Amino acid sequence: MKVSILTLFPDMFTGFKETSIIKKAILKGIVELEVVDMRSFTEDKHNRVDDYPYGGGAGLVLMCQPVVDAIKATRTDDSLVIMMTPQGKTFKQSVAYELSEYKHLILVCGHYEGFDERIRNYVDLELSIGDFVLTGGETAAMVVSDAVIRLVDGVITQESHEDDSFSNGLLEYPHYTRPREYDGHEVPDVIVSGHHENVKRFRIKESLRKTLRVRPDLLENREFTDLELKLLKEIKEEL
Ligand code: ADE
Repeated sequence: MKVSILTLFPDMFTGFKETSIIKKAILKGIVELEVVDMRSFTEDKHNRVDDYPYGGGAGLVLMCQPVVDAIKATRTDDSLVIMMTPQGKTFKQSVAYELSEYKHLILVCGHYEGFDERIRNYVDLELSIGDFVLTGGETAAMVVSDAVIRLVDGVITQESHEDDSFSNGLLEYPHYTRPREYDGHEVPDVIVSGHHENVKRFRIKESLRKTLRVRPDLLENREFTDLELKLLKEIKEEL
């Protein structure tokens, strides 16, 4: 997969590209991460990429010319052009899975007050990472590309993301590692029992318990298995 990030602040991606799993995915040749400086496309004699909004108002607006020219120079027939904006569809794990199937993602990062509305004619999808406003789309583009890249075949093992929070519609179960006891806090006996069925049951139950407590909205339209229903009943009786 290729990910192209169109930005006015390419330096922000230096650490991102050179760290941890993203770095490994690039070194393994599974992912190509291209950072494109949209300013290099400006035809303005003062190198400007933004201007005051028609009709007045606070802030500066990104101009069509440099942004659209950068998109046109980057996209191919295989590309999905995504605009990062708080007005977009909310990014979720299910969207990350869908995007991980594409050959080429182009993430266009806005800054300042936003994009000239006409730029939207050149994008396929608008994504928001949540109901808050960032100073720019760059950190949002890192969130989206990180979540997508780790799902691309070969980047991490499939088991590593099969149990992730949200992959099965629930929050993930708790994890423990050495030591067995830390500052008076013990690892639950069942986890170290070696009894695989009980471990599995414990994990489903704790996943359900956590989701019920923290994100009950995730359970609203869920089709529960018989075991999940039984465990939910137990949880409610324990309250
Ligand atoms: N740009 C500014 N805020 C954003 C958000 N919440 N999601 C995506 N891009 C953004």
